[in-house]
Amino acid sequence: MNTESLPENGHARVVVMFGSQSGTAEELAKNFGRKLAALGYEAPVVDMAKFREVDLTREKYLLAVSSTWGEGEPPDNAVDFWNHLESAEAPRLENLSFSVLGLGDTDYKIFCGMGKNLDRRFEELGARRFAPRTDCPLEFEEPAQAWWSSVTGALHQLAPVQVPGTVAAAGEKEEEEVPAGYSKKNPFPASLLVQKRLCGPGSPKDTRHLEFSLAGSGLSYEVGDSLGLVPRNDPALVEELLQCVGCSGEESVLTPENRETSLRAALIGSYSITGISRKFLKDFADRAKDFYLKHLLLPEMNKDFQAWCEGREIVDLFLAFPQVKYAAEELVAVLGKLNPRLYSISSSLKKHPDQVHLTVARVEYESRGRRRLGVASTFLADRLPDGDTAGVFVQAAKGFKPPTDPAVPMIMVGPGTGIAPFRAFLEEREAVGATGRNWLFFGNPHRALDYFYEDEFEAYHASGFLTRLDLAWSRDQGEKVYVQHLLARQGRDIWAWLEEGAHFYVCGDASKMAKDVDDALHELIATHGGMSTDDAANYVKQMKKDKRYQRDVY
Ligand SMILES: Cc1cc2nc3c(=O)[nH]c(=O)nc-3n(C[C@H](O)[C@H](O)[C@H](O)COP(=O)(O)OP(=O)(O)OC[C@H]3O[C@@H](n4cnc5c(N)ncnc54)[C@H](O)[C@@H]3O)c2cc1C
Ligand SMILES: Cc1cc2nc3c(=O)[nH]c(=O)nc-3n(C[C@H](O)[C@H](O)[C@H](O)COP(=O)(O)O)c2cc1C
Repeated sequence: MNTESLPENGHARVVVMFGSQSGTAEELAKNFGRKLAALGYEAPVVDMAKFREVDLTREKYLLAVSSTWGEGEPPDNAVDFWNHLESAEAPRLENLSFSVLGLGDTDYKIFCGMGKNLDRRFEELGARRFAPRTDCPLEFEEPAQAWWSSVTGALHQLAPVQVPGTVAAAGEKEEEEVPAGYSKKNPFPASLLVQKRLCGPGSPKDTRHLEFSLAGSGLSYEVGDSLGLVPRNDPALVEELLQCVGCSGEESVLTPENRETSLRAALIGSYSITGISRKFLKDFADRAKDFYLKHLLLPEMNKDFQAWCEGREIVDLFLAFPQVKYAAEELVAVLGKLNPRLYSISSSLKKHPDQVHLTVARVEYESRGRRRLGVASTFLADRLPDGDTAGVFVQAAKGFKPPTDPAVPMIMVGPGTGIAPFRAFLEEREAVGATGRNWLFFGNPHRALDYFYEDEFEAYHASGFLTRLDLAWSRDQGEKVYVQHLLARQGRDIWAWLEEGAHFYVCGDASKMAKDVDDALHELIATHGGMSTDDAANYVKQMKKDKRYQRDVY
């Protein structure tokens, strides 16, 4: 047992750092900090953005809790810390023992990339891993708890605390800390002022413009931020599920926040009743005594499990195994929490005081012979009448902002709903009288049906405020034209703008568009900058470091 790290006051010190975009890792880290303090440790909780406030070369123990964003990238508050760790000036960390908890989502190609990177890099810098890393999927509670047990077990061996009477506090239930003001934990009930269609009849898309009132909330936002929205499930689906499960809906249950309510209300407003989680499937498979479902849950079957989940919802399981029934409290015990959805804000407070605008694509698709509805987008489009309220909070995006210098030019690429933040950027720049040139690339299927905010952009363009406007209508001609094709066509001028210091922004679909645009950017830099592929990649890397290449992709 090594007790050399014990300070004279008996409080061994364990630093807890968090990298977090939407608050989950931050909340966990703060919770771990409180628990460590209750165990008798000195446990400062440090935002990775403030990494210079701790000297890791002098620390003995570090817990790093971080989510992953973009495509395997650090969350905004951890970008500088990660660049520092990767740089030549990164210090050796031979004194440090660490353990990493990664948060992520198995739907992303680079699952828990930031957690994995931190884990590898700390080791490369000479630090010792005192408890193994854990990568948590969206349902992080169980793996995070297991990681916590292994961390506290190891710490107990390495740096036992000598503060009598404090260990018992570990088992105490944490008091939920609700911060003052409106926030993710305490969303503001915002009234819907306006909801209108942005696509004409016959369009393959259905995208809506929404305006909410923030009057009286004390909430403010900056352009580039997102709005968190607390959705409500479709009551028709809830009724179908109640029938399948064998409950009336009047049963009394607890919400995830330990509030007592009826099962019906809980299924509408508190629990996720569509996507199938591992936890749910495990319980269901046991009840159904179904070999194939159990088999899908084996760790080596993860890919098959993911593929099987696609296009299936919880209700499909009940329809396939009608003999399986649940009591109300058994059901909510295996359902996940109904998570808020994020939407890029498409307005500037300077132009619309006390309002927040969104641009939302309604999600509806067919799978396995059933019509499926996206929870939040159809709640906004179909089930929220004007004047009714929805819970909202502001999700800041420090890494997605117009240039601080109003004279710097900006190039914005935002097809489909990706246009949202750029409407806000332009409103903001107009309101402050920014002199920098603005270039917008927008795209959608048909000009006649899908030109979102046409009047606004055409007016900006006619006045010269929007210096250049390039539009890609993918289905208006024989061959498909997307924004990345227009970038290639305009490569010479884009290169000239970049060399004059322009910032380059991308928003919208992460699965294909963002990658194609990234390829087009590399290509045009290589071609018009006369660079090798490697040099073009370094140029783009430097743009990212200088915060001149920013993306908000989902
Ligand atoms: C930072 C950020 C900003 C965003 N900004 C915007 C924005 O400005 N506008 C906007 O519209 N959205 C935006 N989104 C996406 C938004 O948060 C929601 O994910 C989206 O509205 C869908 O939510 P939903 O609840 O309606 O659908 P859900 O109920 O969450 O269902 C979506 C799921 O359905 C499944 N699915 C969807 N289509 C199919 C299909 N054809 N076949 C099989 N399965 C399918 C997929 O599993 C998909 O994940 C943003 C996301 C992020 C993270
Ligand atoms: C736009 C976006 C991009 C994401 N990218 C990834 C990713 O590349 N890999 C991953 O494992 N998880 C990814 N996630 C999932 C987040 O890491 C996960 O939701 C996490 O719990 C968020 O924690 P936070 O609130 O502390 O930021 C992404 C989530 C969003 C909304």
